[in-house]
Amino acid sequence: MKILMVCLGNICRSPLAHGLLRDKAQDRIEVDSAGTGNWHEGEAPDHRMIRTARKHGVDISDLRARTFVVEDFERFDLIYVMDESNYDNVVKLARNENDVKKVHLLLSLIDDINETEVPDPYFGGDAGFEHVYKLVDAATDVIIKQQL
Ligand code: 4NP
Repeated sequence: MKILMVCLGNICRSPLAHGLLRDKAQDRIEVDSAGTGNWHEGEAPDHRMIRTARKHGVDISDLRARTFVVEDFERFDLIYVMDESNYDNVVKLARNENDVKKVHLLLSLIDDINETEVPDPYFGGDAGFEHVYKLVDAATDVIIKQQL
């Protein structure tokens, strides 16, 4: 199984999802992440996201941002996006119905939740990063359960 996590900048939400699933899946799932925007290409995750992850025992400092490319539809079985705008940006690049079927909102994995999007924490405070951690932690738990 190959899973790609996608957000806007690939420096906050999707690197956290990448690092968390990488740790939980060990070698059972191939995981990567990408952003639909290219502003942060080659950069390490935002220091606030690195700090929040580290607080929970997850090291994401080795990850580097890259931009989503159309070939990702071939490389990955599932593409999880953080919000509706990520969904639109990724689906715009889909070449066929099979590509579209691979794209899902990450929070669609969680049944008992009112939220549908992992909110962008970039312009907010520390509480936003902690909230992202809780949502992504719960969603990646579901992925692991589904793969067992
Ligand atoms: P991310 O957060 O999509 O979770 O990585 C963002 C990072 C950077 C920007 C926006 C969102 N930005 O506008 O530079």
